[in-house]
Amino acid sequence: MRVLVLGANGMLGSDLVRILSERNHKVTAFASKDLDITDERAVREHPALSKKNQEWVINCAAYTEVDRAEEEPEIARDVNEEGVFNLAARLERGPRFFHFSTDFVFDGTKGSPYIESDPICPLGEYGMSKAEGERYAEAMTEDAIIFRTSWLYGPNGKCFPRTIIQAHDAGKTLRVVNDQVGCPTYTVDLAVACAEAIEQHLSSGIYHACGQEAMSWQSFAGQILEAWTDHPVEIEGISTSKYPTPARRPAYSVLDTSKLAATGIAPWRPTTECLADFCSRLKST
Ligand SMILES: NC(=O)c1ccc[n+]([C@@H]2O[C@H](COP(=O)([O-])OP(=O)(O)OC[C@H]3O[C@@H](n4cnc5c(N)ncnc54)[C@H](OP(=O)(O)O)[C@@H]3O)[C@@H](O)[C@H]2O)c1
Repeated sequence: MRVLVLGANGMLGSDLVRILSERNHKVTAFASKDLDITDERAVREHPALSKKNQEWVINCAAYTEVDRAEEEPEIARDVNEEGVFNLAARLERGPRFFHFSTDFVFDGTKGSPYIESDPICPLGEYGMSKAEGERYAEAMTEDAIIFRTSWLYGPNGKCFPRTIIQAHDAGKTLRVVNDQVGCPTYTVDLAVACAEAIEQHLSSGIYHACGQEAMSWQSFAGQILEAWTDHPVEIEGISTSKYPTPARRPAYSVLDTSKLAATGIAPWRPTTECLADFCSRLKST
């Protein structure tokens, strides 16, 4: 299939370009320098987004600095709301639009896994901007697919496992939050899910798409070090109240993926396997 990937240099975008190319799709990969999605005119006029040239436009471009968004909400909104508005307006009648959103559209108070139709209630600027973005994608195009994902990590970006490994290797004491629970998601598996979705012409709508194991940041950090070293150090668990951040985060943002699984799309490997792959890629770079 002919696919344009926006945000192709990002953590998810770079794996997606690789996976789609390996599966013999004809991929055009755009970084922000190739197309700034906040530039309404450029989005409206760029020939790469035309129905003649693409069957799919997959948007991995986003503003993803959750804490910094509290200081500069207008930049987060420019990219995550206006940018998506521009794309949705251009793609109203094709090519098909594929967009990514986040577990941070929920406030984390439900106490059991969130399904797609649960009411959203973001706690911070990033979550609010992503919530507006998904609303535009859904309302303005006929057949957009939106994958809500969570706790992304991958070999080509700044992410929690990389931070933990760097701190460990620098001999730092590790204190990690133990009262926020979510599902870590490996970008390689998410990219496979996305490829399978376009290959089977998945019906439009929102789908939860994430790793299958719910855990706290502390237990995720423990698994990361188990995968990285034969001599993992102890990780001290701390509460969110002891580790204040500019943005509030949902305490429990586990996503129920059964809607997507019912379509046959469930490429999620166990976290230990994903982390082994992540660590071996990190060691080889
Ligand atoms: N990271 C997570 O934990 C997480 C969790 C849940 C959902 N998500 C969602 O998953 C998707 C992918 O996230 P990610 O972590 O892979 O993101 P990322 O690594 O931060 O990459 C985002 C990319 O967006 C591009 N970009 C930013 N502003 C742009 C603009 N105005 N025009 C065009 N491109 C622009 C950047 O391109 P350049 O590098 O070329 O400047 C960057 O490479 C996003 O929708 C994100 O909200 C992420």
